[in-house]
Amino acid sequence: MSLKAVCVLNGDVTGTVYFEQRDAKSPVVLTGEVKGLTKGKHGFHIHEFGDNTNGCTSAGAHFNPLKSDHGAPDATVRHVGDLGNIDCSYDKGVTKVYVQDKQISLVPEHPNSIVGRTLVVHADPDDLGVGGHELSKTTGNAGARIACGVIGLAKS
Ligand code: CU
Ligand code: ZN
Repeated sequence: MSLKAVCVLNGDVTGTVYFEQRDAKSPVVLTGEVKGLTKGKHGFHIHEFGDNTNGCTSAGAHFNPLKSDHGAPDATVRHVGDLGNIDCSYDKGVTKVYVQDKQISLVPEHPNSIVGRTLVVHADPDDLGVGGHELSKTTGNAGARIACGVIGLAKS
């Protein structure tokens, strides 16, 4: 039986993202949409805590159980929470989300489980660790957190 989770994003933009994993060894597939983004790429990460008491700030840093450097989703060196960017094709448009990832997990007891953590959308592109900025290796220099939401279990 597949595992499912869902996240409602709120902030300067809004959205809903669904997570599905067929079994413990399968990739997690993210689908959904985000409304109201500016045209271009926006950093898209899982942050450590499912705490939005002080807005997206209290979600903490990128989910990084292995204490790695920040990187691209397909890089060997990355945070578990590094999902790269979502790309909005026109201003204030509807951005379709489709991401497949092999590191994150929906299995609650898995060390890389993202259930109960926060999904964040950023104002700026994630440079995937290679932008040469002082923040490239920690945040991808993706700028402000413009929307976030806690990832919760959904009916499977
Ligand atoms: Cu982030
Ligand atoms: Zn990161």
